[in-house]
Amino acid sequence: MSWGHSPKPPSRHSSDPTPHQSDADGDLSAGLKVQIRWLIRRDMPEVLEIERASFEQPWTEEDFLGHLRQRNCIGMVAEHNQRIVGFMIYELHKARLQLLNFATSVDFRRLGVGLQMVAKLVDKLSQQRRQEILLEVRESNLQAQLFFKAQDFRAVRVLRTHYDDTTEDAYVMRYRLYETAADTIPFQPQNRIDFYNDAA
Ligand SMILES: CC(C)(COP(=O)(O)OP(=O)(O)OC[C@H]1O[C@@H](n2cnc3c(N)ncnc32)[C@H](O)[C@@H]1OP(=O)(O)O)[C@@H](O)C(=O)NCCC(=O)NCCS
Repeated sequence: MSWGHSPKPPSRHSSDPTPHQSDADGDLSAGLKVQIRWLIRRDMPEVLEIERASFEQPWTEEDFLGHLRQRNCIGMVAEHNQRIVGFMIYELHKARLQLLNFATSVDFRRLGVGLQMVAKLVDKLSQQRRQEILLEVRESNLQAQLFFKAQDFRAVRVLRTHYDDTTEDAYVMRYRLYETAADTIPFQPQNRIDFYNDAA
């Protein structure tokens, strides 16, 4: 996700897509039970560890604090057995939530942690009468695209050469609380010549 408040935000490119389950405990058949709560200052070392293991160009502590100082920015962590196993940073806007940063600990992937964090966000949408969640994801970050697709997000826009560090594009992905039929029509590129032919 181009996690980003700024038009050219730091890279969101996972460095390790491999699931690791060795550290996890509990009943994994039903997913790993996590508590999702506000991020507090003393969570930062663990959050930074997850961030660095997850992205080639991780946010620094100052990046996190800079965002979290903003009034409309919220940080949450997923905790399991007093260990931070995931986090998310998002902004509150009038009609939507903008996801800026989102990651699960490498040791706790494919255990439903990310899924539970998204469920928390969706729950906030319905409580707060906001309609949608938006995020940006690098075109190379296939695992995140597949993850968000599995959570009913859809790619709705391409931001060409969106990043400072590469020429790759960003995909804007959107979750809508009340998806209409029109929202689900697949994107069909149309060239202008076809358009004029149709109109003639
Ligand atoms: C993307 C990410 C947050 C997913 O978190 P997670 O806790 O592993 O996800 P979950 O276990 O809740 O996955 C739920 C479902 O999403 C899909 N999914 C998750 N990771 C996937 C992957 N790597 N490939 C394909 N599908 C995936 C699956 O359908 C999965 O269900 P399943 O495990 O029963 O098949 C995690 O891989 C991560 O932190 N990546 C690095 C950071 C990142 O890219 N963040 C997003 C930036 S846009």
